[in-house]
Amino acid sequence: MKLCMIGTGYVGLVSGACFSDLGNDVICVDRDIKKIENLKKGIVPIYEPGLEELVQKNFKNKRLKFSIDLNDSISKSDIIFICVGTPTKKNASGADLSQIFSVAREIRSSISKFKIIINKSTVPVTTGDEIEKIILQKVSKKLFSIVSNPEFLREGEAIRDFTYPDRIIIGTSDKKSNKILKNLYSPLISKGAKYLNSSRRSAELIKYASNAFLATKITFINEIANLCEKLDVNIEDISIGMGLDKRIGSRFLRAGPAYGGSCFPKDTKALANTADKFNTNLSVIKSVIKSNENRSSLLLKRVFNILNNKVKNKKICFLGVTFKANTDDMRDSSCLTMIPSLIKKGAMINYFDPTGEKDELKKIKNVSFSKDINFAVKVSDLIIIHTEWNDFKSINFKKAVQNKKFCIFDMRNIYSSAKMKEQKIKYFSIGS
Ligand SMILES: NC(=O)c1ccc[n+]([C@@H]2O[C@H](COP(=O)([O-])OP(=O)(O)OC[C@H]3O[C@@H](n4cnc5c(N)ncnc54)[C@H](O)[C@@H]3O)[C@@H](O)[C@H]2O)c1
Repeated sequence: MKLCMIGTGYVGLVSGACFSDLGNDVICVDRDIKKIENLKKGIVPIYEPGLEELVQKNFKNKRLKFSIDLNDSISKSDIIFICVGTPTKKNASGADLSQIFSVAREIRSSISKFKIIINKSTVPVTTGDEIEKIILQKVSKKLFSIVSNPEFLREGEAIRDFTYPDRIIIGTSDKKSNKILKNLYSPLISKGAKYLNSSRRSAELIKYASNAFLATKITFINEIANLCEKLDVNIEDISIGMGLDKRIGSRFLRAGPAYGGSCFPKDTKALANTADKFNTNLSVIKSVIKSNENRSSLLLKRVFNILNNKVKNKKICFLGVTFKANTDDMRDSSCLTMIPSLIKKGAMINYFDPTGEKDELKKIKNVSFSKDINFAVKVSDLIIIHTEWNDFKSINFKKAVQNKKFCIFDMRNIYSSAKMKEQKIKYFSIGS
């Protein structure tokens, strides 16, 4: 099939590369000229395990193409995926849909034969209706069908998630589009993915409700961890004990820093905002948003306690600064709240991240980047393990750190407190 992905970011590039690997002809379009030039040279703009190889392989065999020419790409394709960003509006809590609507206006002039236009971006329920209205202003109803096909991939696991999804949701009442899309996804369905054809509005809401539920699960266990800290109970026992119940499940039940990334913070806010517009108070989601926003200050208080409130001139090393492991995505990482607050109190921050130095931290005074883990921790008073990369799981701290009085705050509970005690390392974790 001939596909066009509009927006070559985490979702568009991964989906485009995976669809081409399944034998489709895919054009990935982006308005970012440099991104497209780099991709044509085999340079992948994001860190995602396995993506570079997949892109290079399919670019070489000419099934995957890159372009900045939206209209030409649309006219050459039968199925169009919209994969542009839907960030939170500036100074408001709703989703900013300007990129989506601008794409809808741009593509109208290139539709002269039937196209399925799929929205893969995460959008508030009824956005598909709006996209349809915009296109209908210039194009006959017979020539297009607007479908919602939300994406559930996780950064860091994106290729696996795309290839072996739990479910594929196709929101459309158009039988012809449903048949074509079921065929497009048949290689994944044959590997066990469940296929659900729902109404377009349902598909849009399934995505927001799923993300809000997962954010709730994380926030729930984070709050239980706060209680554990007062009771000398270990949160890891609670997570395992709860997770063994099949009705609950163990995933997304690990306590840690505030959830971040490009999805949960913006999607929970957008869902609450949409519900308000429809006079429905989603009080659970609103509490989750508030609790998560407070989480970084709560963890900062623990850092101050660990340092006996003597933060000035303390050398603090962050291991990992992205919102989670196996991604280079800094969007809404809790580090972006914690590091500036520690700097304000006079701390000196040094960090290591396997995906390299971060533009977001370059501008902050007294923040430096180390290219090597051992060098990063060498002169630290406090080491904060912020993400769960495998690289951080077997560090010989005793050997690597010069300061004999150093301590560790493990925000991901990677290490065993008992083993740290044996080594006489001052070690703090979450929820114990
Ligand atoms: N990142 C994730 O893990 C993830 C997972 C599931 C769903 N989503 C959703 O998918 C959508 C895309 O997310 P992302 O993380 O891939 O975003 P992204 O910011 O990485 O990529 C979006 C791309 O769209 C391009 N773009 C914007 N307007 C354009 C236009 N008019 N023409 C061509 N290109 C244009 C941008 O230049 C950018 O490269 C969002 O709605 C997000 O919520 C993201």
